[in-house]
Amino acid sequence: MLEGRIRYYENSGHGGRSSPLLRRNTHRVEKGLIMKPRRPVFAEGFILETVHAFNRARSTGTHSDEELTWAGDVLDEYFEVVSDTPVIRQARNVYYTGARGDAVPAEGERRTKSKPYPRSESPASAISFEDLFGLFVRRRSVRWYLDKTVSAELLRSAVDAAAQAPSACNRQPFRFIVTTEPASASRIAQCAGGTAGFSHQFPAIVVVVGNLSAYPLERDRHLIYIDAALASMQLMLAAETLGLATCPINWPDVDEAEKRIRKILKLPLHERVIMLIAIGYGDPASGVPYSQKKRSDMLVDEFPPK
Ligand SMILES: Cc1cc2nc3c(=O)[nH]c(=O)nc-3n(C[C@H](O)[C@H](O)[C@H](O)COP(=O)(O)O)c2cc1C
Repeated sequence: MLEGRIRYYENSGHGGRSSPLLRRNTHRVEKGLIMKPRRPVFAEGFILETVHAFNRARSTGTHSDEELTWAGDVLDEYFEVVSDTPVIRQARNVYYTGARGDAVPAEGERRTKSKPYPRSESPASAISFEDLFGLFVRRRSVRWYLDKTVSAELLRSAVDAAAQAPSACNRQPFRFIVTTEPASASRIAQCAGGTAGFSHQFPAIVVVVGNLSAYPLERDRHLIYIDAALASMQLMLAAETLGLATCPINWPDVDEAEKRIRKILKLPLHERVIMLIAIGYGDPASGVPYSQKKRSDMLVDEFPPK
């Protein structure tokens, strides 16, 4: 956690391509933009920090273009609608002189693609509840795979789907280390406890890694587990739609295992393994546990009780 805090303040935990501070603050500005009623003055407490983070990110030359576009679009919109105060005027100056050239962009030049939009403009989805439920039932933990290579490209598509998951303040404090080399996959899988007897035939492994450099405060240290788990679920479901099968694998807090995997993957101290996911083409002739699921009558308690 301490190592993560240091990296947070250096803003270097995401390989120079992403800033958790910029992502969080851009998200907070977006929330201010959609507030009902929208206040004439908002985000005053952190707007200077935000434009400084934006400028810093821009100056690295390595920062993700998409992240900069999003932050820039949101900041353009913010400065267009917010009322002036001394702090906001200062932030506006820092933003337009430091980051965007020497002038406020003319009307037609403003980037507006990634700013908030009305819910009515959300992309439509043709997936029915029944279709989705069917996918959920089809996805089961599959432990036996065909001897068939999994393409890294396919896994990237699944990761793109995983990245659509919600995360606290949209920081996405995780990454996926992917190996499609069976020898490496079983070597990595053997670091975990729950794979005895079947890890030798994993065609691919995804190591889900949480990034503690996304936070300045210890109180947020659990978010890596929540955010990465939500994304991992999407990854597994997406893999299923791509013809693949998966098995999540527990990563217990065991010192020995931690040391082994850190050494293999050269993980820095501010990153923590959340879980592993075995991936491959499921062997149609092998068994899958039935895994009965609880129904809503056991899972739901209404409040106030009826
Ligand atoms: C966090 C987590 C850790 C798991 N660890 C293992 C594991 O180490 N070995 C294994 O064979 N299965 C593991 N599983 C798979 C579970 O056994 C499986 O999800 C559960 O029995 C329900 O079956 P289903 O996934 O087919 O619905 C894990 C699942 C989760 C969510």
